[in-house]
Amino acid sequence: MKRRIYLKDDFRKLLHGGDYNPEQWIADKSIWDEDMRLMKLAHCNEMTVGIFSWSALEPKEGEYDFSFLDEILDKIYSNGGRVILATPSGARPHWLADKYPEVLRVDGNGVRQHFSARHNHCFTSPVYRQKVQNINAELAKRYGKHPAVLAWHISNEYGGECYCSLCQQAFRKFLKDKYKTIDNLNKAYWSSFWSHTYDSFDQIEAPSPITERSIHGLNIDWFRFTTAQTVDFMKCEVEPIKAICPDAKVTTNMMFEHYGYDYYKFRDIIDFASWDSYPLWHSGNQELTAQTTAFWHDLYRSLKDKPFLLMESTPSLVNWHEYNKLKRPGLDNLASIQAVAHGSDSVQYFQWRKSRGSVEKFHGAVVDHEGTENTRVFRSVAKTGEILEKIEEITGTGVDAEVAIIYDWENMWALDNSQGFAQKNKKYYQTCYSYHRYFWKRGINCNIIDRNADLSKYKLVIAPMLYMVDEQTIKNFESYVKGGGTLYATYALGMVNETDLCYLGGFPAGKLKDVFGIWNEEIDTLYPNQTGEVACNGKKYTAYDYCEIIHSRGAKVLATYSQDFYKGEPSATVNEYGLGKAYYQAFRDGDDFKSVILNRIVDELGICKNLPCGEDGLPFAVSAHTRTDGENIYLFVENYSEQAVENIALGEVYEDMLNGGQAESVTLAPYGLAIFKRKTN
Ligand code: GLA
Ligand code: ZN
Repeated sequence: MKRRIYLKDDFRKLLHGGDYNPEQWIADKSIWDEDMRLMKLAHCNEMTVGIFSWSALEPKEGEYDFSFLDEILDKIYSNGGRVILATPSGARPHWLADKYPEVLRVDGNGVRQHFSARHNHCFTSPVYRQKVQNINAELAKRYGKHPAVLAWHISNEYGGECYCSLCQQAFRKFLKDKYKTIDNLNKAYWSSFWSHTYDSFDQIEAPSPITERSIHGLNIDWFRFTTAQTVDFMKCEVEPIKAICPDAKVTTNMMFEHYGYDYYKFRDIIDFASWDSYPLWHSGNQELTAQTTAFWHDLYRSLKDKPFLLMESTPSLVNWHEYNKLKRPGLDNLASIQAVAHGSDSVQYFQWRKSRGSVEKFHGAVVDHEGTENTRVFRSVAKTGEILEKIEEITGTGVDAEVAIIYDWENMWALDNSQGFAQKNKKYYQTCYSYHRYFWKRGINCNIIDRNADLSKYKLVIAPMLYMVDEQTIKNFESYVKGGGTLYATYALGMVNETDLCYLGGFPAGKLKDVFGIWNEEIDTLYPNQTGEVACNGKKYTAYDYCEIIHSRGAKVLATYSQDFYKGEPSATVNEYGLGKAYYQAFRDGDDFKSVILNRIVDELGICKNLPCGEDGLPFAVSAHTRTDGENIYLFVENYSEQAVENIALGEVYEDMLNGGQAESVTLAPYGLAIFKRKTN
């Protein structure tokens, strides 16, 4: 059955464009006409407008001036393009901060900021919310039905937190709604420790450098609150838009390794996901950069389990990395199409045209200060545009994944809170990436999900360092394995509950001991210059950072420690539970051990590889991804290395979408890319 999901039915194209700020060039509108000419040459069909346009749109309180947007939307549309229209709340006009200082954020030391910068408003301020709603309503009235508007880009990169009295009050209300009584809260927070018991909700302050930070449950709740408050702020932004145009589709642009908000909580408010990708290309190991970027593409696709948009990327370099290296020729095309391979229906850049002044004047853009199409970067962008046109039929197709990896924000906050293990760096990201890498290197599609997600559609679920589990997680895992699923968890599983209290009665929590058939008695944290050793089927593997001392409670032992006082104790196990299996890896490996076990599991479960490959996977820095509409399979083969890779077998006969003809194998140049198509079997 054919299935496709389009952003808008009358524009079934992969979007190619980016952030466009024509208001910066209002004094010389010939630039706008030049932009239209250049957009066609760059094979761009979409621009994101209005992101930081508040002072142009509402120069004085309540006095709107939409002339520039009117003109630009019409111009883009009459040139065959479309827009994603942004709400302007990412940066406010001066008058707003001057008249209503409450919209300015207060930092953790209690200092209110002056008017400056961006992305720094109070999310609670009723005034800010009202002013945002007002302008959003005006925008929706004026442009909601404009044929150029494909979707709405709400604010820009929501981030951070505010410690003003309004936010503190809202935090207390959040806690009161959650715990009902102060007694419940004290119990949930174990606050009798150090005599920190609260007498009333009024005593509670947000954790900050000058307030309470020793109550772990409070720290986690503060992250939950700032997430909830931001989602609520976004709801407020979206409300007038959807009231005026019920069909409007909304998104907000998310970020790489964004720490402070649990993005899974944005799932219900966005109609589709989008994110801004700025990897550190050419900074060492290209394979690692490609694969960690892939992890985030996978996460954002999984968020709604449908096509997402790459909202921003740079066509050349950024200006905010410590070292701002140019993308090497070819890499930009490859990195752009990488997003599409993972399920993006767009390649968009920050920014269309370089600004003349201010902090981003040297950030990469499609159009440089030089101003013409005669640049290396422009030509490269045009080439990406041509590729996107050739593969236009991929628009709206999905990604089938038989494997999921659990990456969970609350778990990460709890781990970092834990005051144990390796204090400074638990390496949660790196651990999740390392499991993802196994699948990436073998061309196996993979979703990234939260700990309480529906697991039933996956053959295999990986739970790296899932330290925080709640009752729902325990049930979720139990029923998944019982029903025939294969679950693979690692050290530090199931140690604390949702308010960061340790589980009593042995780790992992409750029933998980039966599911995995083990008990984790102690964890040994190694110094960075030390290693441990594990033996499995006559081979030795190095252990890094963590060696848990576990006991089998019925699980079959797959590997044992071969050093130290826990020599001979199990270091990896598998347990048959119900119709499924639960694997446990008690130590941190260097990818070799997990590969051996996962190779076996992947074979046993018949998990689909997009390309045939041996035990060690595809050649260095090569991967393969597929999208499908149920009738056709679209195969992307990507080479992120600086070496050509010859004769990669495709395993089936495919149509070559870029060069025409048929192919059963492919040779890829350095940073080379190929896209194929075949009917599903
Ligand atoms: C972010 C922002 C953009 C711009 C780029 C620069 O993603 O959303 O406005 O600042 O970074 O890389
Ligand atoms: Zn505030």
